[in-house]
Amino acid sequence: DATTNAEPVKAVPTLPDAQTVTAVKHWTDKLFSFRVSRPSTMRFRSGEFVMIGLMGEVNPKTGKQKPLLRAYSIASPSWDDELEFYSIKVQDGPLTSRLQHIQVGDEIILRPKPVGTLVHDALIPGKRIWFFATGTGFAPFASLLRDPQTYEDYDEIIITHTCRTAGELTYGAELIANLKQDEMMLELLGEDNLNKIRYYPTTTREESPKMGRITDLMRSGEAFSDLGVDPINPDSDRAMVCGNLAFNLEIKDMLEGYGLEEGANSKPAQYVVEKAFLD
Ligand code: A2P
Repeated sequence: DATTNAEPVKAVPTLPDAQTVTAVKHWTDKLFSFRVSRPSTMRFRSGEFVMIGLMGEVNPKTGKQKPLLRAYSIASPSWDDELEFYSIKVQDGPLTSRLQHIQVGDEIILRPKPVGTLVHDALIPGKRIWFFATGTGFAPFASLLRDPQTYEDYDEIIITHTCRTAGELTYGAELIANLKQDEMMLELLGEDNLNKIRYYPTTTREESPKMGRITDLMRSGEAFSDLGVDPINPDSDRAMVCGNLAFNLEIKDMLEGYGLEEGANSKPAQYVVEKAFLD
């Protein structure tokens, strides 16, 4: 046994799972997106999230550094060979105050263990799917809108996005517009399928073509009449929700009121909810 006479081996700190930043785009003073390399063995389902982050500061007492990690929805689809993330920038946020400064070539930590409930497996078949997002809660839908399965499973895809300002809608608006302009997306998803998308953006604190919280617009019936669809019902409609906590709770209540039941990976049903990341 070669180890018998060896010197005791010093404990080598395990290197965190580093990935390299390949692109960064700043959308507003509070929002940015970035892409990183994808571990070759990492598989995930569109809509899932992973833990990502940076090494924390050195603890002056112990001299040790711990990774500072947060849950981030993967915004890229499962077939993509890179991973995309969409993030807020919180000036005093432990992670995003630093993460917002990353540049191409930098490394971030990514734990390659995707999980989450915003997956097609957690829903039973339906005719129409609603994606309800506020703020950075658009991220998992950026993934699902680029996944062919979304179009195989549904005749109609309604994506609502409520933000405070019009600038905060840009990431999502551009992504949806680009689906039909990108040759590769057109070929992969098909033009007829892309025509299934109905995009319903709203703002609450700045003038835009449609103002108001999606919850209020649904309660009044305005959202349904704008879209020319019947109110949500459990026979035809399915929903995925991703936004701030208050929004999630409110829309969950509304969906239950329409008669939809919450699903999970282990027990698929009619809607699923996930909290958007906040630093
Ligand atoms: P509002 O401006 O009326 O609070 P935030 O940036 O705070 O996460 O909010 C993102 C968007 O979600 C904002 O447009 C905000 O509207 C909206 N919002 C916040 N809470 C709710 C809720 N309970 N129901 C619907 N929309 C909400």
